[in-house]
Amino acid sequence: MKEFLLLMASCFLLSYCNAVKTTTTNPPVVITDSIPETSEPSDPIPIVSPDGFGSAALDYQKYCASCHGKEMEAFADQIVKWKHGTSKVEIIKSIKVGIVEEGMPAFAETFSNREIIDLANYIRNGIDEWEAEMPSEKEGQIFETENGRYRAELVSTAADIPWGMAFLPSGEMLITDRDGDMYLRKTDGTSVQIQNVPKVRSKNQGGLLDVELHPNYETNKWIYISYSKEKGDKATTAVIRTQLVGNQLVETQEIFEALPYWNTNYHYGSRLEFDNDGYLFITVGDRGKRDVNPQNLDNHCGKVHRIHDDGRIPDDNPFAEKANAKASIYSYGHRNPQGLIIDKKTGTIWEHEHGPRGGDELNIIKKGENYGWPVISYGINYNGTTFTDKTKMDGMLNPENYWVPSIAPCGMAQIEGEKYGDWEGDLLVASLRFNYLVRVIVKDDVVLGEEEIFKNIGRVRNVRMSPDGFIYVAVEDPGRIFKMVPMG
Ligand code: HEC
Repeated sequence: MKEFLLLMASCFLLSYCNAVKTTTTNPPVVITDSIPETSEPSDPIPIVSPDGFGSAALDYQKYCASCHGKEMEAFADQIVKWKHGTSKVEIIKSIKVGIVEEGMPAFAETFSNREIIDLANYIRNGIDEWEAEMPSEKEGQIFETENGRYRAELVSTAADIPWGMAFLPSGEMLITDRDGDMYLRKTDGTSVQIQNVPKVRSKNQGGLLDVELHPNYETNKWIYISYSKEKGDKATTAVIRTQLVGNQLVETQEIFEALPYWNTNYHYGSRLEFDNDGYLFITVGDRGKRDVNPQNLDNHCGKVHRIHDDGRIPDDNPFAEKANAKASIYSYGHRNPQGLIIDKKTGTIWEHEHGPRGGDELNIIKKGENYGWPVISYGINYNGTTFTDKTKMDGMLNPENYWVPSIAPCGMAQIEGEKYGDWEGDLLVASLRFNYLVRVIVKDDVVLGEEEIFKNIGRVRNVRMSPDGFIYVAVEDPGRIFKMVPMG
């Protein structure tokens, strides 16, 4: 519901901004045709030029983008050290007479004065927008923590809402974009769009969601993807396994489908994680039906599931023999679990889930247990009323840690290796709401404390460890993935 309200607010803002844009007298210049086809779909070309710049958007793409970047990255990157001046007159001069000795051609012959002025305004405006859009990155490139300083190295801007990240043995990275696209980031930093991705319902919290490799990926090549699958006016959380050949997904098989479908567009859950024995764990949210789904075993929603890598259900699942229960259920009574990680050393399954208003939970998932939603909770309704006064009950497990107010957790990693010193073994929980990560200090499966780190990095959607031991943080608005590099 909170996510829903946020969405409503942003929809309102968006339509308001659009309305403001479209009521100006100059209609937006739509550039579609004469832009060269990009071999890099991850690099979006602005479709509509800002109002009032004449043909500048088109001219820029045609004459300038090859050197200065499709989105003026080259200019933006050198904001503080514009060598030839940032005033309008200086920019006009640069364009007109060029900086020939530096490799900047003169364009006096190419454009009329009017067109050069439009270009100068267009660039100035672009830089301003870039600066306004990227405050967190600019403020937060270097982060101080209890454990030293870290630098956020930008590694990808391919996805708008980077939801899932998986690292291939080759050093390449798979990235899912919630709006339905998927990318392969190559080791040289470029990205290609992956084809044959399942059709998703990209609405509200739904879309293309998590991605995970099979533990034996090197030999069997299976990639697991969760997404919002549509049927008529309803949708559900589904999981496929598939293989990547070139930039195509092939051999795709559906291995899990949460039932029933619902006409809501939120609480899909959908994190994927393999344990040390090769079982696949899948989280599914309550789909906004808290009084129907999480406490009943006859449906898949509000549950953590355990299945074999090909979708078969293990015989020793806790409710495999129980009449009218879904056999894949491993634990129940969950709200919207969007974080899951299994400790490689101990096998402990850590899960986190969004609470209502307050009461986000960090749980250790145990076979057959009930985590209490919505019977017990530390949260209250969004409108401030309470729905339960109980935080404890026999037969229901309490969280290891909980957050009031809600941090809106999404994505989780466990720090492995030596790169981050004594952080090894701690959990990282991404906060969508507060633009930071929570380092949950864990020793022998006990939560000892927490530290807010990487403050202002952006609206954090996910956090993962790469096989070579670096923390990768995915943020949205705009979508970026950072590698967190220790500075000693
Ligand atoms: C062939 C590559 C190339 C093309 C095409 C090109 N530029 Fe440049 N531009 C450069 C180089 C190189 C510089 C100098 C950067 C430096 O001195 O550090 C430069 C500098 C500039 C500057 C001054 C930036 C500063 O540091 O003060 C402006 C403004 C500029 N270009 C605008 C444009 C515009 C507008 C177009 C398209 C009409 C364009 N450029 C096309 C290569 C190019």
